[in-house]
Amino acid sequence: MKQLVVATRNHGKLTEIQAVLDGLVDELLCITDLPDLPETVEDGATFVDNALKKAREASQACGLPVLADDSGLVVDGLDGRPGVLSARFAGPGADDAANNQKLLEELAFLPSASRKAAFVCVMAFVHPDGTEQVFQGVVTGHILNGLRGDGGFGYDPLFLVDGFRQTMAELSLEEKNRISHRGQALGAFRSYLQRRER
Ligand code: IMP
Repeated sequence: MKQLVVATRNHGKLTEIQAVLDGLVDELLCITDLPDLPETVEDGATFVDNALKKAREASQACGLPVLADDSGLVVDGLDGRPGVLSARFAGPGADDAANNQKLLEELAFLPSASRKAAFVCVMAFVHPDGTEQVFQGVVTGHILNGLRGDGGFGYDPLFLVDGFRQTMAELSLEEKNRISHRGQALGAFRSYLQRRER
């Protein structure tokens, strides 16, 4: 594929996407390379709603194929929150530190089973030719009592991955891409692109 626009302003995500799509797309454009694109209001009830909305609006505005993702943390003991509100769990404009702090506070007095959690990622691909495809990835784990590791972003330092001794923030970028929700969804997208481009 010649050009693909990635509809994210998050540099952590962009780096992960670049690594996985390396060699498959001639030019990977970031939404910030196309300054006139409208900012999508992420008001969907589900990750699928938000990812499709972002991809459709961006593709319509720039006339190029677009990959958009919506992702977040789903915590058992919080009835699935923060979910689609993961980026702004501690309020509008909240940073990672504030969101992590809020998560620790909300879980502080709940039983340990409440700490079971999953990262979920939905990737939506929308092409001007009318194609719409959705890819999903899930990784399970649980929320620790304190931060561990300096890699990744967001809730990574609090998320101990099932089957690993490390948090997401203690894994290398390659390891995280291999197992993560975004890595899984991107892997499915990569296979789809390979088939489509044949
Ligand atoms: P989005 O940008 O609307 O998809 O919101 C994603 C939010 O979910 C981020 O701001 C993070 O708080 C959280 N999140 C999503 N993926 C990850 C991840 O891989 N690690 C840590 N936090 C994540």
